[in-house]
Amino acid sequence: MPRERADILNAKKVLADVWPGQAQENSVALLKALHILTRDGALNQDARRKLKQVLHLVQLLRPSLDALLAENPDAVIADLGTGKSYLGFILYDLVIGPLGHGSIVGVDVRDELVRQSRKLATESHFTRMSFVSGGIADTMLPDGRADMVTALHACDTATDDAIRFALHHEARVIALIPCCQAEVATLLGARNGPLDQLWRHNIHRREFGAHVTNVIRSLVLEAHGYKVRVTEFTGLEHSLKNELILATRHQKSNPLARRKLDQLVDQLGVTPALLDVVGRASGEANPARPEGL
Ligand SMILES: C[S@@+](CC[C@H](N)C(=O)[O-])C[C@H]1O[C@@H](n2cnc3c(N)ncnc32)[C@H](O)[C@@H]1O
Repeated sequence: MPRERADILNAKKVLADVWPGQAQENSVALLKALHILTRDGALNQDARRKLKQVLHLVQLLRPSLDALLAENPDAVIADLGTGKSYLGFILYDLVIGPLGHGSIVGVDVRDELVRQSRKLATESHFTRMSFVSGGIADTMLPDGRADMVTALHACDTATDDAIRFALHHEARVIALIPCCQAEVATLLGARNGPLDQLWRHNIHRREFGAHVTNVIRSLVLEAHGYKVRVTEFTGLEHSLKNELILATRHQKSNPLARRKLDQLVDQLGVTPALLDVVGRASGEANPARPEGL
């Protein structure tokens, strides 16, 4: 048997327990080009972990994606902080390509990665896939259209930029898997009340800061009229950054969520920069908290 054929068969065997259905030859070629599979069709531990993460995410996004594309066949999916674009390419290979409609735009600040992704999209004949080189905060897509926004492990406040981007583009669906996040931890100060105990030790400050960041992000989206689901993204053995915030727009705004957001940030005494989207400037003085908090 020719070597190339044997490698493809090997790859199909290796993918049998992770890939949905039997992997086709073009999927094997794509995974090799993404360096998820080695040239001879093997899958090392790290690559297997990444592939499982991305496939799991595709599965979690599938219902929202199907609903969106059924309603709007030309829907644009913007993948922000796209990196090597594992998510975008696999989403195209498994969903957008076979459906024959919808498109994906990847955005990343790293020009070299964007060039590589453009080349791979062309070689793969993924004609409805394109890339923009630039910061998320400075990017507006043609006609201001992004119907769904995904941001998988966009670093630190890049996830907040993804939220601003999604709101500017009035995205129907937003899927965020936040990465490391440091801003809120630096804002938690001494309030001389029992809540201070939550962040007295550095490790607690970091973890509590990250938790509060995602709670604020979820409330910001709710305040903008999104229905928000927060779930575990994948098993902790696959990633420590393991929270999926999935938001679907269902009304123009939600004043109750807005009030809860205000109460929370007032009690904690933090005003992260993201609150500009609800009209609060960062560093804005927080009203004095009631005695004892
Ligand atoms: C940890 S990687 C994740 C890549 C990819 N989403 C994945 O999960 O494989 C984060 C990516 O976000 C990009 N990035 C970070 N901040 C950004 C910003 N403000 N605008 C655009 N891209 C950004 C980085 O260049 C990097 O490629």
